[in-house]
Amino acid sequence: MNHPNEFKPSLTESVGLNTGTIPTSIYTDPAQFEIERERVFRRAWLMVGRVERIPKPGDFFVKELAIFKASIIVAHSEDGKIRAFHNVCAHRANVVEHRASGNAKRFVCRYHSWGYNNSGELAHVPDESGFFGLDKKKCGLTPVTLEVWEGWIFINMAPAPEVSLQEFLGPMADAMAGIEYQNPDHPIVLRGEFKANWKAVAENFSEAYHIASIHPKTLGPVYTGQPNPFSRPISASLYGAHRSLSLWLNPAAQPFAKSKVAQWLFPANHSVTGTRQEGQTNSVVEHKGVNPTKHEHWSSDVNWFFPNWHLQISANQFWTHEFWPTSATTTVWEARFYNKKAKTVRERLQLEHFTSHITDTMLEDLGNIESMQVGMESGAKSFVYFNESEILCRHGAEQVIKWSSSSTAKDALA
Ligand code: FES
Ligand SMILES: [Fe+2]
Repeated sequence: MNHPNEFKPSLTESVGLNTGTIPTSIYTDPAQFEIERERVFRRAWLMVGRVERIPKPGDFFVKELAIFKASIIVAHSEDGKIRAFHNVCAHRANVVEHRASGNAKRFVCRYHSWGYNNSGELAHVPDESGFFGLDKKKCGLTPVTLEVWEGWIFINMAPAPEVSLQEFLGPMADAMAGIEYQNPDHPIVLRGEFKANWKAVAENFSEAYHIASIHPKTLGPVYTGQPNPFSRPISASLYGAHRSLSLWLNPAAQPFAKSKVAQWLFPANHSVTGTRQEGQTNSVVEHKGVNPTKHEHWSSDVNWFFPNWHLQISANQFWTHEFWPTSATTTVWEARFYNKKAKTVRERLQLEHFTSHITDTMLEDLGNIESMQVGMESGAKSFVYFNESEILCRHGAEQVIKWSSSSTAKDALA
């Protein structure tokens, strides 16, 4: 049962975090960004997509990693394995694949038509006899280390990973194993470039403190209300470099009370990101790593995998945010909301309604993320303060600082 003081005790202190300020310079300093490239992004395992994105042999997508000036092909090879390679030709280093995704038996470089099979091996060289001692076996696409965990594809950009994916995920993998993801093959994708440091963008999507201020109409009715007007988290957990929190659901919320159309669209009063209906249960609701305290008024979880992706889960939906730095002060953000494929007109309209609703909330965020960066770069403030609700922001910043000063990934994880 809710108690008026339920949201008063400090989660931040109970999980053993400091309560001090965080330096603004980690969001603005180009030297810090260089350190993060080598010590955070090159050492960490980076999530690049789900396996359902490339279900058939030959399916592939290309991931542009501006932070490494790299373009990576992630391919479902003929032998069933998923592999990653640098998208760079062995002939004279041109870019090979120019499509963002597709199905290919061969990746053919358009410059002189060297062709690679979908396992990355060099398969065809025009006028091969004109070369001098060319060893085709040594001229495949340069492989990138790849591992799959629970359907999530991770790559590692170090010459050799310092820790395995399992070691890297550590207690987060234990907590989150075995979740049944609903509709994993049908995401709505939102993408944009923000003029802000990647951490500032990630932080926006990991705290609900701003909901009452900037989303009063879109998210406010679901996530705020008495006795929790500022949407304090109902629980938080730190899992090594990673972190999670559970958000509260206003049981009195009637998000569609004023709209007859929305009531027709959502007869079960389903809210914007598939939050639980009264008493609803399923394998996601019951999973031990989801809403771990099994709070009866639970809306959704934010799981922030270090360094740069969020896996957010509600009873009826999951969605992800990826934050890819393109410079110290710019970030490509890519969100995927995994929805049901529409089978009826009503479901089709539900999807349209959902997409426009969620786009509105993202626009509400966008301006604030960018203006925060402007303020940070003015140098007027040396520190930022994190509230109880911003516990994941705090842990995220602390982990970046820790990884930035650790000389090995093992030290950073210790
Ligand atoms: S650079 Fe690719 S075929 Fe020449
Ligand atoms: Fe927001």
